[in-house]
Amino acid sequence: MNIGTIIASQSTPNPFEFIFVISEDLAIKSVEYGTFVQVMEDNNVILGVVENLVHSSKYFSSADIVHGSSISLETKKIFPSTTWEYRLAEVKVLGMISRIFKRSTQPVSPGNNVMLADADILTKFLGFSPNGINLGILRQMNINVQPSLDRLVQKHLAVLSISGGGKSYATSVILEEILGRTQKSGRPATILFDVHGEFKDLSTLKDNPDFKNCEIEIIPAEDIQLSVTNLSSSHFAKLIPSITRPQIRELTKAISVKKKNSEIITIPTLIETLSGFEMNQLVQDALIGWLSGLQSTRLFGHHEIPDLELSLKAGKLIIFDFSRMISLWYKQIIVYYVLDRLFNLRRERLIPPVVCFLEEAHQFAPEDKTPASKDIIETIAREGRKFLCSLVLISQRPVNLSTTALSQCNSQLILKIVNPNDLAYISKTSEGITSETLKLISSLGVGEGLLMGNSVNYPIFVQIRKRISNSIYNEVSLEEESKKYEKMYHNNESSVNSKLLNKIK
Ligand SMILES: Nc1ncnc2c1ncn2[C@@H]1O[C@H](COP(=O)(O)OP(=O)(O)O)[C@@H](O)[C@H]1O
Ligand SMILES: [Mg+2]
Repeated sequence: MNIGTIIASQSTPNPFEFIFVISEDLAIKSVEYGTFVQVMEDNNVILGVVENLVHSSKYFSSADIVHGSSISLETKKIFPSTTWEYRLAEVKVLGMISRIFKRSTQPVSPGNNVMLADADILTKFLGFSPNGINLGILRQMNINVQPSLDRLVQKHLAVLSISGGGKSYATSVILEEILGRTQKSGRPATILFDVHGEFKDLSTLKDNPDFKNCEIEIIPAEDIQLSVTNLSSSHFAKLIPSITRPQIRELTKAISVKKKNSEIITIPTLIETLSGFEMNQLVQDALIGWLSGLQSTRLFGHHEIPDLELSLKAGKLIIFDFSRMISLWYKQIIVYYVLDRLFNLRRERLIPPVVCFLEEAHQFAPEDKTPASKDIIETIAREGRKFLCSLVLISQRPVNLSTTALSQCNSQLILKIVNPNDLAYISKTSEGITSETLKLISSLGVGEGLLMGNSVNYPIFVQIRKRISNSIYNEVSLEEESKKYEKMYHNNESSVNSKLLNKIK
């Protein structure tokens, strides 16, 4: 579709930019900020992107004329002002495609026609793959946004937005895409730390014939048991930040005694062994106190439940459901243990390549605190890609998320963000984000996002596709829930009695 004609201005066209005039109404509607366009120049296609639009009107640019006619508010009806209106689109040249894609070194010619970019050319230029992760539609262009799995997640992905911006929804879409992959196209294992219990509905995928090969296991956090046998004294040092060097020494000794004698290692048996050691009473009391504190979490035991090495399979998703667990400390301990185990299992190639999705990532790798889980998240962010252990960090508070972890996320899916501090932080941690793009992030609608970084050759706006899995979980409405509540306990007088009855039952 021909959408306009290139004009000559004082400094354009040049090899980097050109300006074109859009006159037709239809063309005006189909060109906006970020639209990809192309121009034929000497049998080569020059690809560009609209970086600014100016609406020009000779009639309304003269203050005298506007003032003179302002007696009537119906100016537009009386004067044919619209026939003098047009739009100017400023285009940044992205490159030239002959047989390969290369940098453009010559300006395009004034008078040349400008067209909307061809779908095939654009798909190739952006680097999408037929086997890729279908996130949705490229805004305006009706092209599937389909970066390859490698490019999207191997070097880690950050999914960021305000609360309610669509992070969990987009995460479900990515998980659906990974779960729908065939053995032939390569299926990693996936794990998800589901902080609010929003992802249970992914299990409805099993009823869909396209997903018959995938497996989904939901593990309530309260059923998890962390094996003390897998813990060294350095693990304990992470779990007990105030532990001292002499205490670590004694603990190391106790663990090696137990291992040498092939004895069952649990926290109570470690305490028993430590009680028999000769050591400073204060050191001993404090150490036993710390360990008793860990034991009281009821998270630790001899066996690992679930057995991570056996449970993690290619094409399988394990969801750790934290929805009934209140203590953040407990959750951080579980995330630490699981990620540390997975990273080590992966280093020894004992499990398939794995992608770890972490909701509320700022709670587990905060910038200003050092919970047990922070270090392993930063380690995987730095080294995980070598061992094919990838992270998807999901957060509504990027400012509070570890800079080390966030800056190692080579791909970013940014949904609506309005907080200026978060926006400034994102522009600091993500290369190649322009101030215009930053402005657009705050005006994104629900389900719209900016995909940038390693996953695409150029930042693009994407409309996230509809989910395949049925949504059992829906955002609870205050009005609806209040109505339901009153219906259940239909009037105030009987409500106390009904509640009491329910309690007795
Ligand atoms: N791409 C989308 N298409 C349709 N609805 C969406 C989309 N993204 C989000 N929503 C809806 O917007 C609401 C908030 O999305 P959610 O993913 O829970 O946000 P967040 O996790 O960022 O807090 C939900 O009701 C969800 O169904
Ligand atoms: Mg969410």
